[in-house]
Amino acid sequence: MLLSRSRRALKLVLLVAAVAVFLSGFIKDALLLFAPQAPAHVTAPVPAPQTPSHTNGPRERPPKPPSPLVLGKHRYGNGGLLEVNEDGAHPIYELISRAEKDWNKKLEKASKSLHQAVVEYRRRYNREPPRGFDDWWSYVSKHNVQLPDEYDSIYHDLEPFWGIEPRDLLVIREELESKVDSYTIGRNSSSTISVVHYAFQAGKYDQLIKGSEKIIDLLRDVEEFLPPFRAVFSPHDGPNRLSDYGVKSALLQAASSQTSIERDSLPKINSVGWISACSPTSPARRKGVNLDMPPPRPSKKSFIYDHRLSMDPCLKPDHFHHHGQFLSHNSGPSPQHAMIPEFSSCSTAIHHNIRIPTPYGWVEDIYPRSDDPEWDDKIDERLLWRGSNTGIFHAQHIRWRRSHRIFLVEYTNELNGTVDLLLPSKSRKEKVGKPKRIRGAHINPAMMDIGFAGRPISCSSPTCELIEKKFPWRARQSVREAGNYKYVLDVDGNGWSGRFKRLITSNSVIFKSTIYPEWYMDRIAPWVHYVPVQLDLSDLHDALAFFRGDGNGDGAHEDLARNIANAGRQWSKTFWRREDLVAYFFRLILEYSRLMSLDRKAMSYSEKST
Ligand SMILES: *[C@@H]1O[C@H](CO)[C@@H](O)[C@H](O)[C@H]1NC(C)=O
Ligand SMILES: *[C@@H]1O[C@H](CO)[C@@H](O)[C@H](O)[C@H]1NC(C)=O
Repeated sequence: MLLSRSRRALKLVLLVAAVAVFLSGFIKDALLLFAPQAPAHVTAPVPAPQTPSHTNGPRERPPKPPSPLVLGKHRYGNGGLLEVNEDGAHPIYELISRAEKDWNKKLEKASKSLHQAVVEYRRRYNREPPRGFDDWWSYVSKHNVQLPDEYDSIYHDLEPFWGIEPRDLLVIREELESKVDSYTIGRNSSSTISVVHYAFQAGKYDQLIKGSEKIIDLLRDVEEFLPPFRAVFSPHDGPNRLSDYGVKSALLQAASSQTSIERDSLPKINSVGWISACSPTSPARRKGVNLDMPPPRPSKKSFIYDHRLSMDPCLKPDHFHHHGQFLSHNSGPSPQHAMIPEFSSCSTAIHHNIRIPTPYGWVEDIYPRSDDPEWDDKIDERLLWRGSNTGIFHAQHIRWRRSHRIFLVEYTNELNGTVDLLLPSKSRKEKVGKPKRIRGAHINPAMMDIGFAGRPISCSSPTCELIEKKFPWRARQSVREAGNYKYVLDVDGNGWSGRFKRLITSNSVIFKSTIYPEWYMDRIAPWVHYVPVQLDLSDLHDALAFFRGDGNGDGAHEDLARNIANAGRQWSKTFWRREDLVAYFFRLILEYSRLMSLDRKAMSYSEKST
């Protein structure tokens, strides 16, 4: 429709019909690129100037020959980040289409029978499934659990332990049972599942045992199918077992050659703090981590294409500067001498805690549903976040100033500074161009509704007072008030974010920034179900502007935003039901029981015997 009659005629003259059909896109693109760029008025109340209709504008330009106008390609880096090519289209178009394609492929190739699942299991992991796999499959079929092959997270969590001599692994687990703070859940051949042991600091029992109840409650659903086991859990929010690169690699090597290493023969650890877990050739080890020198803000725009990879601080050492998980312990503790099989609600790329499908924060839905209007009926187009200043303890000798929640609130409320914004483009055939420098005072109050709620916590005087004065504190919001926002941000607290389940069940588009690849990572697709955001928030304004447009709504992609909001809620109701938590836990305990057995072969599933 953009093509004028004269241009159509011209094309007919210039080109053979078939070629013309192919090339018309290019001509259109070429002309679009010559269209004067309207200045971005991010917050200005006046409409952006339009090309006056009485001039003929770009249509009157002599037709460009259909030169090879191909938009530049973005670069997909090793660390899960797409590096933006200014001559390419806005990268979010591509990130979304690519993610949708991969997700659909995953859905299509999912196993439909037990036999297919066994074959796929062997293909992926080069061994037989654990004993009880047929019971697991029955549960999965009966409860309509989706993507029955996508449990690589279990494999990655357990695989290094296969390399430890089983007798030694049992001793390590036994020693762990008495380590403070922990509780052990298990059963023997005649008892039911319960807390069989605990070790807490004095006076902490009531607080720390709480999490065990919901875990047992989940396992209860499949108790009759679970072999005897004893599993030690950390009651805390974050992971606590730092890996040593040499130890973990040696164990993975042993596991892949189906041998095992005795505890006394493990390689010596190389104790260099957090980066002990990183490969000697990784960016973190090569650059080192100097917390006294904050990393400069990235000069080039990038977006996450692989969320799990992008969380790895070995690949992106800036994470050490930006997250309370790391800053709380400065350059990091000593790594573990062996791998310690301790379960926890979350882990990071450099820890080896075994992730559970945590029931904490799980909600069936948002009730009443009237508190959560349909996406189109939500009115507020600012990005919403409210929460407490958790994530680190705030005191004078602690590096809390750059921790993730403090940084979030400071950065998104900054008035006296600038934001380099990648302007939303009107079509995927347009070059995205250079970011535009915009004053914080123009963009932040217009686009962000982000602040702390309540009173400062996790702090000591005088830091509490400083925090209360320096940062915006806003009223707490009810679920109903939050329901009015189209865009909602989710960030980590002291550990993983317990509110993600609630948020993604709402009809809002959820932006998520985290360093914890959770249990469902293989079972969700960023850019399809939610919008992934980097820890340094360098893509936050850009992604938001892409969906909601500039201050006038120009360049908005509300259709794409609505798709994500709907897909997110749909995903939550299909992939994160109680049954999905049970199915994950069921499979995890089958795998774990085999791992902790002295006769792992006998604990494997044999297809023939059924
Ligand atoms: C199983 O556990 C129960 C309760 O902890 C205990 O009383 C019983 O003796 C155990 N049985 C076996 C066979 O170990
Ligand atoms: C704004 O930033 C400039 C440059 O960093 C600084 O010199 C100035 O004091 C700041 N003004 C306020 C009011 O914070």
